[in-house]
Amino acid sequence: MLTQIDKLLKEVNGFSPDSKEELEAFRLKYLGKKGVLGGLFSDLKGATPQDKKSAGLAINNLKNAVQEKINSHKNTFDKVIKKSNIDTSKPVGLNSFGSRHPISLIKNQIVGVFKKIGFGVSEGPEIEDDWHNFSALNLPKEHPARDMQDTFFIQANPDLLLRTHTSSVQVRHMESVRPPIRTISPGRVYRNEAVSARAHCLFHQIEGLYIDEHVSFADLKQTIMYFAKEMFGEETKIRLRPSFFPFTEPSAEVDIYWGSKNESDYRITKGTGWLEILGCGMVDPNVLENCNIDSKKHSGFAFGMGIERIAMLKYGVTDLRLFFENDVRFLKQFSSL
Ligand code: PHE
Repeated sequence: MLTQIDKLLKEVNGFSPDSKEELEAFRLKYLGKKGVLGGLFSDLKGATPQDKKSAGLAINNLKNAVQEKINSHKNTFDKVIKKSNIDTSKPVGLNSFGSRHPISLIKNQIVGVFKKIGFGVSEGPEIEDDWHNFSALNLPKEHPARDMQDTFFIQANPDLLLRTHTSSVQVRHMESVRPPIRTISPGRVYRNEAVSARAHCLFHQIEGLYIDEHVSFADLKQTIMYFAKEMFGEETKIRLRPSFFPFTEPSAEVDIYWGSKNESDYRITKGTGWLEILGCGMVDPNVLENCNIDSKKHSGFAFGMGIERIAMLKYGVTDLRLFFENDVRFLKQFSSL
């Protein structure tokens, strides 16, 4: 037995692992449940008292040698990494930070502009019912103006649809909060349109709503002017064109003056120098009544804009699809903003 242990001891002392796995195999071979040392200890049971003493000592010696070997190599393989040319003390490179999506950047900016004048933010579900997306907004069933927004309906339940605008959030807000109301509703909306450089079947909107006593069209115009100047600069000029929305009366579309200094300005403004940025109007009394707000006492204005459109203007992006493809080469360009 002693010669066998002596042989094993030599083997242990001569062992030099090349990898973590080899070291682990070594540990299992000697210290594992059915390992060499366990075997030796049980062999010991049958030995004479004389042999027991010397062999026991030798086995303990062997065990210590194994343990020492393992301990001495424990950190060897971690050290190998340190020895390579990876400098773990180097500060993290700045360009490894992610970047905010341009739509989020613009959304945050718009929200910030309206927060300054007391607007809060409200949100609602993307799967809406007919009432909140259409009927409450003065768009009863079969109303031809429903065709203005090609809608995705949920087949299993014809009362449900993907919201076509965030006006639905404003209805929910009016139903649950009493005037004065000042809220903006950012969110994703869906329309069944062919995808192109200028249109997409999903996009983002921010709609605003202000309801109080004696709110007038002048308040609306002033608010839009403030917004346009904050967003596009102090010199920005706006104009309002009469328009139609079923939920506002009167309604208007707002253009900002973009100029036509160069060919691309000329192209995006179709030669006029003016660019449409949003739709707005005085909330139709029917809509207020639908939400249990007394239209004799209260009046208000609403407006809505597409975030992609504002982002395209601010960042000079000419293809809407870029916002949805999430190509990092595109997104990275916004990392410092
Ligand atoms: N909800 C309208 C749309 O999506 C925009 C709008 C909002 C117009 C509020 C007027 C007032 O087209």
